[in-house]
Amino acid sequence: MQVIANNTGLGARVHGIDLSKPMSDSDFRDILRALGEHGVLCFPQQDLDAPALAAYGQRFGTLEVNVANMFHAPGLPEVMILSNKRDEAGKPLGLNDAGQGWHTDMSYAKEIALANVLHAKEVPLRDGRPLGDTQFRNMHAAYEDLPHEVKERLEGRVAIHDFEKFWDMMRIRPGSIRGPLTPEQRAKRPPVRQPIFREHPITGRRVLYANPGYAMYIEGMDRRESDAMLDYLFRHQSQSKYLHSHAWTPGDVLMWDNIGTTHNAVADYTPEEPRFILRVQVMASLDYAALAA
Ligand code: SIN
Repeated sequence: MQVIANNTGLGARVHGIDLSKPMSDSDFRDILRALGEHGVLCFPQQDLDAPALAAYGQRFGTLEVNVANMFHAPGLPEVMILSNKRDEAGKPLGLNDAGQGWHTDMSYAKEIALANVLHAKEVPLRDGRPLGDTQFRNMHAAYEDLPHEVKERLEGRVAIHDFEKFWDMMRIRPGSIRGPLTPEQRAKRPPVRQPIFREHPITGRRVLYANPGYAMYIEGMDRRESDAMLDYLFRHQSQSKYLHSHAWTPGDVLMWDNIGTTHNAVADYTPEEPRFILRVQVMASLDYAALAA
């Protein structure tokens, strides 16, 4: 297996492994280490069906079943379908607006996620150029660059994250097929407390763990002060030096670190430009420091 780093400070391409086959312990460890080091791993030219993608993801931890998962592979609720395609009767085949805004998956839950693994089957193309990039920001670097006073002021502080914040941001956009959360869905996803800085389970380094998709306010801080501080953190992390943009090719498996990065799905394609992606989300359910050692 060969891991070739991008020149953006985030991301690498991984060659020489077929993810549809059982993985050796040493490949597993190398991938885990590479995930911590590079944040976003692209495995090009893969061909996995939904059960194989689930089997790959499961090596890294328990797979999440989304509370509002309306679209999943047959018989596999943990394999979500992200797509703007419709069947012959006009019924949507997948969630058409997943992740269109900067966020960190599962920061709205007590148990957080280690990684997302997406596998592109169809990628929208215009004039030969792929559309629907997925963008990432480096939260190890964003933490490191924070001024000392900000680090000191926020150390040990907690922000409240709410699943409904991002859901409602998506819902009010034109063409959204999301309904309001039902009382049952809402009850399953109450707001949660998250440290603003946390230790990354693979690298052992600190990361900035506050994202504009879900973070609402800083606990115990005057609301105006909290709004100003979150606004500062969100502007700080949005600097272009932290950005890596992944342009998809069908066959790509893209695995990203959900603790050390935030991400955004770029909505620059139309309903006539088909996109079809399988996705699993790996919960941070194992001792990664020990597994990567
Ligand atoms: C996600 O946030 O998991 C979706 C990303 C994408 O579809 O590009």
